[in-house]
Amino acid sequence: MRIDILTVVPELLESPFNHSIIKRGKEKGLVEIHVHNIRDFSTDKHKRTDDYAFSGGAGMVMTIQPIEAAIEHLKAQRTYDEIIYTSPDGEQFSQGTANQLSLKKNIMILCGHYKGVDQRVREHFITREISIGDYVLTGGELAAAVMTDSIVRLIPGVISDETSALTDSFQDNLLSPPVYTRPADYKGWKVPDVLLCGDEKRIESWKEKQAYERTKQLRPDLLEKHD
Ligand code: ADE
Repeated sequence: MRIDILTVVPELLESPFNHSIIKRGKEKGLVEIHVHNIRDFSTDKHKRTDDYAFSGGAGMVMTIQPIEAAIEHLKAQRTYDEIIYTSPDGEQFSQGTANQLSLKKNIMILCGHYKGVDQRVREHFITREISIGDYVLTGGELAAAVMTDSIVRLIPGVISDETSALTDSFQDNLLSPPVYTRPADYKGWKVPDVLLCGDEKRIESWKEKQAYERTKQLRPDLLEKHD
């Protein structure tokens, strides 16, 4: 899988993909993540990528020229399954969205900034607009990083324990059961006995019950979607 991210602040995306699981996925050749600076495509003599809104009002708008040039440059090299625009107006990102996108071959993500992007970019290039939640970030870079992280870890082989990604919280609309590690008794705070009994079946049914109870208590809304 290949993910191309277009941004005016590439520095914000330098670190998130260079550690741990995502880094390993790249090293194993399972994913390529390329960050492009939109400014490099600007024909403006000052390399500007934003301008005042025709409607007036506060805030600058990202101009269409460098974005079109960047998108066309990439599209000339391969076909993209989705060209995503990160925006608080978009459909809400979820585990389901991550699952869907993890099956794609080439994805482009355009990070919004300032007051937004010239509407013509959205109309002519964007196939999907995605928000990571009902709050406003200063730019779409952190949203792109969140989405990329959750997509990449689902690509088969990226996480060494194959079952691990499938047992995540939300994967079946249930939260994960609590987990413990050694020591079994820390200052009198004990790990539940069942986890030490060695009976796989009992442990599995304890985990299922815990997952259900935790979801009922913390996120009852998810149970409506659980089958
Ligand atoms: N850009 C600004 N806020 C955002 C959000 N909540 N999700 C995605 N992109 C954004």
